[in-house]
Amino acid sequence: MYDYSDDPEFPPESIYPLDWDFETSPQTWRLYSRAKREQWDEDRVDWAKLEEIASGLERKQRLGVAYWWCVLATFDNAAPVFGYAMVKSHERHIPTAYRSFISTITFDENRHCMVCGRASHCMFKGFPRGFKPQDDLERKAARNVLWTWYNGARYWNAYKEAYNKYTFDVLLTSFMMGEAAATTIFSEMGDGAKIPQFKQVFRQISLDETRHYAFTHVLLQDNLPKMDESRKKMVTKQIRAGFIFLSLIMYRPPKDFWRLPHDYEEVHFKMEDLARDAGLGVPTLEEKEKAWRDAVLRVGAAVSKYGVKFPEIPELGISGEEVERVSEDDVIPVF
Ligand SMILES: [Fe+2]
Ligand SMILES: [Fe+2]
Repeated sequence: MYDYSDDPEFPPESIYPLDWDFETSPQTWRLYSRAKREQWDEDRVDWAKLEEIASGLERKQRLGVAYWWCVLATFDNAAPVFGYAMVKSHERHIPTAYRSFISTITFDENRHCMVCGRASHCMFKGFPRGFKPQDDLERKAARNVLWTWYNGARYWNAYKEAYNKYTFDVLLTSFMMGEAAATTIFSEMGDGAKIPQFKQVFRQISLDETRHYAFTHVLLQDNLPKMDESRKKMVTKQIRAGFIFLSLIMYRPPKDFWRLPHDYEEVHFKMEDLARDAGLGVPTLEEKEKAWRDAVLRVGAAVSKYGVKFPEIPELGISGEEVERVSEDDVIPVF
């Protein structure tokens, strides 16, 4: 029976009652406005022209480019990730500005994933699941993509579980590493790409990622000063987890977390070489190492301002706090 003489009691984790708070986090509100102003449309990229350019490339080069976009899509398939975060942000009644901005990231990330798909289709329709490999390398290229996606599936399960394990502030600060990686890779590739359509999309995506990265800075400012030591420790661990997850595309896959065939890396680098020759703008291993180290150090500088210790990153020769081995349940960071 309901007692209508009183206000209703709302169930826990409900998206009601509604609240609109236009005061909290003015910086996020500004980013939200910027997100709406800076929208762009991937339909306006000249995909027909890209197909024409593709027809002038060798088969292996086309495959190399399609391969790279498919691997990237493991990280840029982030619309469900932020869509899920958006649902949770409503259920947990986090500030309206955050919720609103997360809705724009969801839309942005869908666009990024569409770009991955369209670019890959223009280069090699049917790759990786509906094409006939002509040799061992081609077969292994498709296998590589599918195993990368398999790890994406493991990540997805861990990600959903993470909402039951971590507080929202820790989860949100975890996004920083992914956004730092994304701004780095896309601005680098925007400079390096020789094919105009790729240059264009890298620059556009980079604009979105800069906004996402700026949001993670606001989150740090808003949330880290209030965090106790144990939560700060979790942030340190999440930075390490972010490094591990994103290293596959940013540098080379580390031993932790990733489950990949023994010759994955060999095939990966061969396909990247082909993509680079075709004009995609993939950085060399040395360039990647430098860019990734710079990005990691930037995140380190940002969090250390608030007393968060930076994890040790032996892969890049960066010393710091020792973190226990990162397992598959620990990985949260996204693009
Ligand atoms: Fe993205
Ligand atoms: Fe992003």
